[in-house]
Amino acid sequence: MTATNGVNGVHGVEKDGFGTRAIHVGSEASPETGAVIPSISLSTTYKQNGVGKHKGYEYSRSGNPNRNALEETLASLETGGAFALAFSSGSATTATVLQSLGPGAHILSVNDVYGGTFRYMKRVAEENQGVETTFVDLEGADHATITAALKDNTKLIWIESPTNPTLRVIDIPRIVSLARSHPSNPLVLVDNTFLSPFYSSPLLLGADIVLHSLTKYINGHSDVVMGAVILPEHHAPLAAKLRFLQNAIGAIPSPYDCWLAQRGAKTLHLRMKAHGVNALAVAKALARSPHVEDVIYPGLSSHPRNALAYRSLSPHARKFVDSLPEDEGGFPYGGMISFRIKGGAEEADKFLTATRLFTLAESLGGVESLAEHPAQMTHGSIPEAERAALGIGANLVRLSVGVEETEDLVADVEQALAVAVGRSVEL
Ligand SMILES: Cc1ncc(COP(=O)(O)O)c(C=O)c1O
Repeated sequence: MTATNGVNGVHGVEKDGFGTRAIHVGSEASPETGAVIPSISLSTTYKQNGVGKHKGYEYSRSGNPNRNALEETLASLETGGAFALAFSSGSATTATVLQSLGPGAHILSVNDVYGGTFRYMKRVAEENQGVETTFVDLEGADHATITAALKDNTKLIWIESPTNPTLRVIDIPRIVSLARSHPSNPLVLVDNTFLSPFYSSPLLLGADIVLHSLTKYINGHSDVVMGAVILPEHHAPLAAKLRFLQNAIGAIPSPYDCWLAQRGAKTLHLRMKAHGVNALAVAKALARSPHVEDVIYPGLSSHPRNALAYRSLSPHARKFVDSLPEDEGGFPYGGMISFRIKGGAEEADKFLTATRLFTLAESLGGVESLAEHPAQMTHGSIPEAERAALGIGANLVRLSVGVEETEDLVADVEQALAVAVGRSVEL
């Protein structure tokens, strides 16, 4: 037994707001030294005063103070959560969850899932572990189609919302209710990486498990690769099973990375507000541009799922959005935007190399703005025909809008569009 096998959670501060929890939960001053910021505990092993008599730690794979502290923060931030488990990457988290299903299980997944999750489901779970996945458009499919895709052995429904990279917004309560009314009663997992616990609280919408690539918004500074799952109180046995696998498989994060991610999480609320305000401004600029065919940002009033996006905001994000001056153009809804540039791969490539502040790079969720080409980069592992069906064409560009000054980002996107498309139109 280690301290991490116990219930970690919110320690009586659940009455505090999101930002207060981000800063205080899991970050109590050290009882030994009074240090306000936790030290990094690098020890891999812990002294026992008699066999089995220790202070809650035996060996660092099964638990260490920095991982415990981060897990406590995460269990509190993902509202509705009681247990959090951190892993060495978002993908290791996915792998551990899928391992827990056992051979012969079936998964129903949203079709527009992160490329690495798709690859794991098809090439590892299906080919090596006997776990089959059916991919369905969980945004557009009607109840009957989704129910028909559920099987007697469906153990898990995998949702990402908004999806990556075409930002389809999934109605989580609808999927939860379909799951509950099916005899197989599968667990509903939401990969909440894109919105972060600030904009969305899937556990409050009935989901069973929330997964994050902490690499993205929660750490927020593009210097840690890590993942986590968070479960509500009523899933204590499942949390214990995943805790067992976390130790048995051993895909655990280092104490230093846990410390960094916990430091990053302390400003999650501030960063997410700024990401959202900036993304809305950039999305509006893209929507105005004659060089853009189509902008996908669910916060834009013109987005077909804008009302659902508003309905599914977490209570703290709703409070933030409602406090902003009335804006007919839309509301902040995370920092991710996809758009189709006029033209094809050539124009997309020119745009991606013409930006001054948006760096051409994979990943997302850091304070700095990034831009990428999903068809050739993040979603290159999805077969071309499937990419085409999902709308991931050669002219699709994905932006991770950072927290730089709003007007600088808008100006950067406008000048890069002019370079990529404007000049060829003028010629
Ligand atoms: C939505 C989503 N889930 C999971 C992952 C995997 O996370 P990691 O890169 O930390 O393994 C990613 C990575 O891009 C992602 O975008």
